[in-house]
Order: sequence, then structure tokens, then C-alpha cells
Amino acid sequence: MTDLIKLFDPVIGKEEEKAIRDTLYSKFWASGAGTGNVSKFETKFKEYTQSRTCVAVNNGTSALHLALSLIDISGKEVILPSLSFVSTAHAVLYNGGIPVFVDVEPDSLCIDPNAVEKSITEKTKIILPVHFAGMPAALAKIKRLCKDHNLTLIEDAAHAAGSTYKNKMIGSHGDIVCFSFHPVKNLAMPTGGAITLNDGNWKNTEEILKSKRWCGIANRKGVTYDVPRIGWNFYMNEFSAAIGLVQLKKLDLLNSKRRKIAKRYNDEMKIEKKMPYSKDCSYHFYWIRVKHREQFMKKMKENGIETGIHYKPIHQMKYYNKKIKLTNTDIVGNEIVSLPTHPNLSESEISKVIKCVNLFA
Ligand SMILES: Cc1ncc(COP(=O)(O)O)c(C=O)c1O
Repeated sequence: MTDLIKLFDPVIGKEEEKAIRDTLYSKFWASGAGTGNVSKFETKFKEYTQSRTCVAVNNGTSALHLALSLIDISGKEVILPSLSFVSTAHAVLYNGGIPVFVDVEPDSLCIDPNAVEKSITEKTKIILPVHFAGMPAALAKIKRLCKDHNLTLIEDAAHAAGSTYKNKMIGSHGDIVCFSFHPVKNLAMPTGGAITLNDGNWKNTEEILKSKRWCGIANRKGVTYDVPRIGWNFYMNEFSAAIGLVQLKKLDLLNSKRRKIAKRYNDEMKIEKKMPYSKDCSYHFYWIRVKHREQFMKKMKENGIETGIHYKPIHQMKYYNKKIKLTNTDIVGNEIVSLPTHPNLSESEISKVIKCVNLFA
């Protein structure tokens, strides 16, 4: 019996083990104030992403929730793709906003900037692109739209730790950029997320975010503090930050392995509809589009290869249930299959995935 080729598989080693042990025996496991490993991680991730500052949180969903809470969107519209994990849209609803789903481009599967432009109304406040599977969205045009219409750019970069756009790191472009460090992500933690900031008012915004991530606490002086606003219990724990510091050191190496796998897939898979190759992409996963998806995924499973569906479009989910037509999203939602790109894959496993796709897709 051959081992299952997993869709996602974090790369861990002795350094992560040591980080966990050290944190365990330090008995300093959590700090709402974000001192210790959390603060070290924030500094390192800020430097890595070339952003103005970084605020760590407990997951990507919280990052989006807090980021959108910075702008008053009550009764206002946020433009986003429907082809994403549901947290992208939930973050709009948590903050009383109205999600306006628009279509994606067929090559990148990122939000279509022309569709965004057509959807802007007097009620629009935020454009929220997702860097799908790590492929950067068309930020230049989206930035221009934000400038022309006085909108805030918040990026969902959950898949894009280590992606670049026009030679600059993802994390350094939008006013606010949200990351996830879920165990399956390129930078893996038990649970974690981060917000990077680049807007003119980032110092003030950083303070607000740090207060909001810990129950609204601010103005700490010794053991006293005040609560000038509502907040949540969204701070990162020390174990996650300790692992994150190790993972961040290897992120470029791990992403280069992912890119090499994606290059082989792109070169050697005969299927017509497949993810393009780009040096800018972090390849959180690699997608292909197949007509008979259920049958294909069954065959892959029988051959020991795990595949996934990212995603059933959000507007089709029961809770959202929007009767809208998004041409590319609707087709892609029925055909997309995600394939493993994690750096634990051996050359023979990569060859096996290619061979099976060429046989069954
Ligand atoms: C596109 C996208 N946005 C947001 C999230 C939420 O991140 P987390 O699971 O860390 O809350 C995810 C996680 O899967 C995601 O894929």
C-alpha cells in the first residue's frame, strides 16, 4: 500500500519542535498585549513583507474581521470575489456591510477589475480582492479605482504569504492586507493570522488594531488600563508565534519548491484549463479545471492522491443564496480541482500526480 499523497502537508522539523518545547517550559503561553514571540514575529513579518507595520492575530478570519471594522461599512457595499473561502464575505457581514460579489478573470481566477469598476456605486466603501491560490490580483487597476472613487483597498492574502506583485511583496501594496497562517498555509502555525498596514495613518491604525484584538484594552500603565472601544479576543498565542518565526525563515525556500512543482505541472500536464505559471505566485495550491470532476477526483483518490475543491462560490452557499449570474465563477465553481503543491512532495510523487492527471482528466 503506497502512502497517500496529501493535498496539504506542513513542513516541520527540529527547529519547530524546539520552539514548541521552549515556549512550553517558558510557561508564557499567551499575552493579550502581544509581547514575547508575538512581537518578534510582528517585526520579522513586517520586514519580510516590506510593509509599514504588522499586527498579529489568532487567524485569517479575525484579520479580515478586524481590518473591515476599521472602516464604517454599516449599510455600505464591499466589492469582493465569490470564488473564495467564506471568511472573506463573513467579514463584511460581521461589520454590518453588504457584500457585492463580482466575477473573476478566467486565467488568474482573481477578481476581474473591469467587473469591479462596473459594480462601484455611491455606497461602495471597500474593494476586497483575494490573491487566489497565491496568484496576485490585478492590483494596479484596483488601486487606481480606489484612488478615483475614494475607496479603501483591503487585500485577502490568506494564500499569498511570499507572493510578489511588480517586484514588491504582497503585504506592501494595499492600505490593509490580511494573512492567514492556518496549518495548511504556506507559512503554517497551529492557528494564526496577521494584518499589515501601508496607509498614511498606519501608526494610529496599528494602535486601534492592537486594542481591538484584545477586548478593546488600551492606555496600559502598569496594571491599569482603559477600554475606549469594543474589542474581541483575537490575539495570537505564543506557540503559534514561535512556530511562525521558524516557518518565516524558511518561507522563501519552501515557496521556491512550490514554484518548481507548479512549473512542472504547467509544463507537463496536457490538460488545457490549468493554473498559469508565474514567478510572482506562492502556489498555495495548483488548480486545474475538469469537466467530470466527481469521477476524476474518485480516480485520483483510488490512486492515492488527495485533491480538493477550492471553492464552491460563496454566493451559492445556503446562507448567502444570491440569485446572481457570475459567468466565470459559476463555471469554475463546477470544474475546479486543487492539486498538492506542498514542499514535502518527492519528484516521484510529483510525476505520479502529473501522470494521473494526464490519464484521468
Ligand atoms: C481566502 C481565505 N481567506 C480567509 C481565510 C481564513 O483564514 P483562517 O482559516 O486562518 O481563519 C482562508 C482560510 O482558509 C482563506 O483561504
